[in-house]
Amino acid sequence: MNEILKVEALHKTYDIKKLFKPTLKLKALSGINFHLSKKETLGIVGESGCGKSTLAKVLTKLESITHGEIILLGKKYNDYLALEFHSKIQMVFQDPYQSLNPRKKAFDIIADPIRINTQTSSLEIDYLVMEMMKKVGLREEFSKRYPHHFSGGQRQRLGIARALMLRPEILILDEPVSALDVSIQAQVLNLLLELQVEFNLSYIFISHDLSVIQHMSDRILVMYLGRVVEYGSRDQIFYNPLHPYTKILLESAPKTQKSQKTHGKTLGQEIIVKGELPSALNLPKGCAFEPRCPYAKVSCKESVPDLEIKQGREVACFEV
Ligand SMILES: Nc1ncnc2c1ncn2[C@@H]1O[C@H](COP(=O)(O)OP(=O)(O)OP(=O)(O)O)[C@@H](O)[C@H]1O
Ligand SMILES: [Mg+2]
Repeated sequence: MNEILKVEALHKTYDIKKLFKPTLKLKALSGINFHLSKKETLGIVGESGCGKSTLAKVLTKLESITHGEIILLGKKYNDYLALEFHSKIQMVFQDPYQSLNPRKKAFDIIADPIRINTQTSSLEIDYLVMEMMKKVGLREEFSKRYPHHFSGGQRQRLGIARALMLRPEILILDEPVSALDVSIQAQVLNLLLELQVEFNLSYIFISHDLSVIQHMSDRILVMYLGRVVEYGSRDQIFYNPLHPYTKILLESAPKTQKSQKTHGKTLGQEIIVKGELPSALNLPKGCAFEPRCPYAKVSCKESVPDLEIKQGREVACFEV
């Protein structure tokens, strides 16, 4: 089977509760549909707050689904037991420092998933951990060190090693290199590409950095305020974008300017689109991009455009 993951009409709404105020509904994801094939990378891109991390959390069961269905290898998410699920899908987080237990040595960080979830002997675990450290480019003697002894890039290698220990088929990578120095970013991206081939992995690769998305993805999902606005191959998205938002994203990404690093954040590739992003707590009745769209017509205020196939990809816009 080539299709490994299928997401159907996925909704995620957060209840925002404030003392003495009525509960508000925040629609973080509204009707997301996509699929992931074996060994492919699906890139997910969009401005801050559009729901990328929410999607990652729902896909890894860190958050529940409000409506919709996710089907992993032909089986519904709800029908999976924890171990079976975690041996199929794992997550690599943006900030390896926050996601790794600072009181544990690298060896235990990598060994824990297999120790907790399987009955593997300690001798075999020793071997598997050392083998995995080698594969992610960490020297053997690093196994006794704590996360704070590692550089950012090494910590991310540690996070990747841990995620691979149960031999998952899918890795969800939420901004895996955004916190790293530009020079280190390329090393970690290349490692991910090598590991993808070695372990036959499928990736869902989330980033706000268009150059990283272009480098890594086979197909791309462009998100805007909890919805998919365009979904196509890398070349369709980068060389012939159709949705006005995709076009503006590509135009607003600096191409010649070198990225700079300040306080651990990479600058220079940050998406800056003019106009204010509507609040996810109070989405407009029509197309959510209409207030910022240079091509908007009066009718765009009236209803939300569905995703339709146009020029071989899916796009949600009345004017395309
Ligand atoms: N636990 C939560 N409770 C309430 N609202 C949340 C929660 N997590 C996320 N949100 C809201 O959901 C929306 C989507 O957030 P999310 O973190 O998924 O965006 P993102 O695309 O990952 O942004 P960024 O690029 O900044 O990481 C935002 O409006 C955010 O404020
Ligand atoms: Mg995020």
